[in-house]
Amino acid sequence: MADNRPIGVFDSGLGGLTVLKELEKVLPNENFVYFGDTGRVPYGSRSNETIISYAKQDENFLLSKGVKYIVAACGTVSAVAAHTAKELPVNFMGVVENSVKAAVSATKNQKIGVIGTSATINNGAHKTKILELMPNAKVTTADCPLFVPLVEEGFSDKDDIVVLEVARRYLAPMLEAGVDTLILGCTHYPILLGAIKKIMGENVTLINMGNSTALAVKEELTALNMLNEDTTIGNKEFYVSDLTASFGKISNILLGKKIENVNLVDISKYEGSSNRN
Ligand code: DGL
Repeated sequence: MADNRPIGVFDSGLGGLTVLKELEKVLPNENFVYFGDTGRVPYGSRSNETIISYAKQDENFLLSKGVKYIVAACGTVSAVAAHTAKELPVNFMGVVENSVKAAVSATKNQKIGVIGTSATINNGAHKTKILELMPNAKVTTADCPLFVPLVEEGFSDKDDIVVLEVARRYLAPMLEAGVDTLILGCTHYPILLGAIKKIMGENVTLINMGNSTALAVKEELTALNMLNEDTTIGNKEFYVSDLTASFGKISNILLGKKIENVNLVDISKYEGSSNRN
């Protein structure tokens, strides 16, 4: 049976647009509701308690929009707060699990690197899941807190000396460990793909969490018989918790196109668990 309800996608801010971009490619006919918590971004430097309470509100907002499925398009939420999804009345997908599966099947030398925000790396979710699937794997992790502001300030060119120098410093432990596969565990990192590739070399496989997640969402919706069978291009609705002057510039960098309509939400109203179960 077709299910025309939208897929809900949320992130701490606009970074999740890189995941939405992959979802759109793989599921062009689906309707999407995107929520970016731009009033409270970044999540990556916050405590687990705060990230969990924010994630619950974000999920409650999407439930109020009648979504059939929720994607946490945020590395930090997926690493720290994925367990909050157990209480949801709809299926849920984070970005950790499928990027880990993709990395485990890509590696030849069982040396896998993971980069993400400080909260993601301190949480260790990727490492735990890699070792579950590949107990002999050697996992090297590094947080890269300057990558997000660099991208949002428009510094992403693979030949930019500032970008390359920051990347060289953050990625040094990956080169030292000889990883042949690197998980880009944060929404903004695909924008730095060229620079990261330049430092890591052509032979290291870079895992785009948006792409692996989008393929998994499609697989699950197909198995559940919940795809939208309308063959026209799906609708997209965009919501944010603060409309900043930089919205246009940053969304353009991350989505690669202009967002025409965006709505403001008072996310603090979505407290508690009233929409759940
Ligand atoms: N969206 C976040 C992530 O993927 C990065 C920005 C933030 O720290 O909130 O981890």
